[in-house]
Amino acid sequence: TGYFTYDPGFTSTGSCESEITYIDGDEGILLHRGYRIEDLAENCTFMEVAYLLLRGELPNQQEKEDFEQTITYHTMVHEQLLNFYRGFRRDAHPMAVMVGVVGALSSFYHDSTDITDPKQRMIASHRLIAKMPTIAAMAYKYSVGQPFIYPRNDLSYAEDFLHMTFSVPAEQYKISPTVARAMDRIFILHADHEQNASTSTVRIAGSSGANPFACIAAGISCLWGPAHGGANEAVLNMLAEIGHKDNIPKFIEKAKDKNDPFRLMGFGHRVYKNIDPRATVLKKSADEVLAELGVDDPLLELAQELEQIARNDDYFVERKLFPNVDFYSGIILKAIGFPTSMFTVLFALARTVGWVAQWNEMITDPSQKIGRPRQLYKGNTELPFTPIDKR
Ligand code: CMC
Repeated sequence: TGYFTYDPGFTSTGSCESEITYIDGDEGILLHRGYRIEDLAENCTFMEVAYLLLRGELPNQQEKEDFEQTITYHTMVHEQLLNFYRGFRRDAHPMAVMVGVVGALSSFYHDSTDITDPKQRMIASHRLIAKMPTIAAMAYKYSVGQPFIYPRNDLSYAEDFLHMTFSVPAEQYKISPTVARAMDRIFILHADHEQNASTSTVRIAGSSGANPFACIAAGISCLWGPAHGGANEAVLNMLAEIGHKDNIPKFIEKAKDKNDPFRLMGFGHRVYKNIDPRATVLKKSADEVLAELGVDDPLLELAQELEQIARNDDYFVERKLFPNVDFYSGIILKAIGFPTSMFTVLFALARTVGWVAQWNEMITDPSQKIGRPRQLYKGNTELPFTPIDKR
């Protein structure tokens, strides 16, 4: 049946050709369509980055406005979807709700599920990007027992998300420009990251011809895990568990102990063996948000102390285990007021742009084939069949 390479975790397998994102893990460089992530985070809005990832180039002013208008046109969800939420338990993890609701979107929007039609593919892409903040905010509102808040198209993407999450009918949430900018930056920094586990999941799901809503639901499921998007939530849980600066050395030793499954959450990366450039931007953003909101968070102090200790510890230095993007995003999100259970939801919201861009690239790639890895079979060789009364 021919040869194949045994490559668990696909650490040395290139699964596709792509023009979207470039990472040099040794140098700590991340480019989207050729632009450095630091430049994009500093100078662009999330909508410009979404346009860039999806269309291949940065929009001019007119293109930007048209794109924003197209996205805001789709921000509402089908009213019937509200009933869908009501079927979930109130204490359901919002990621469980996301997997369910996004998976259900193809039943509401069949008119954009024909993947052979470029127009339908684009409408589905716009719908996914536009509706994700609404869906995510609704997952939050449902969990806290507050009424759903409808989108406002006069607000920016990040502002509207903050509004739908934190406004209540009796009082509009006052959006601070610093918080809105930090939110937008978190979205930019999470928008795409080439062939990570969830993006590969979206591509593999899409390679069978499944509709984009189903593919993105598959991506959300994969992202949920603590080794991937669940890490920012895990960082906060870990900091709470450490509890006090004095306990840091004990936890560092636990992380180094090979007989202990504990790892320092928010440290290490499969690709970056240098500082993650996204972590550098977010560290700055965390300082800004905390200064503006006046949050004097002992967890941030703990995080800074932990970072210092780990950065000077031979174990982490030798293995090039630097803080990753999740290390700081958790701190910012907590300061803004999101519960930890929403952290991965926000990652999913932002990454939808990357998933959609990668899915579109795959669908239009003539060399695209159904994803079908092989295996090293380690089970029994052929056995004689045993009838049930002889087993
Ligand atoms: N704490 C302690 N030791 C670690 C850690 C950690 N966070 N990460 C890796 N190591 C050790 C690991 O035990 C191994 O040691 P040795 O060579 O002695 O056996 C060595 O470093 C290499 O680790 P690996 O598991 O082969 O590396 P990987 O590329 O498979 O794993 C990772 C990458 C991100 C899954 C891992 O570093 C990890 O579990 N980190 C914590 C979770 C986390 O922060 N995840 C977010 C990833 S970034 C966001 C995203 O892309 O979703």
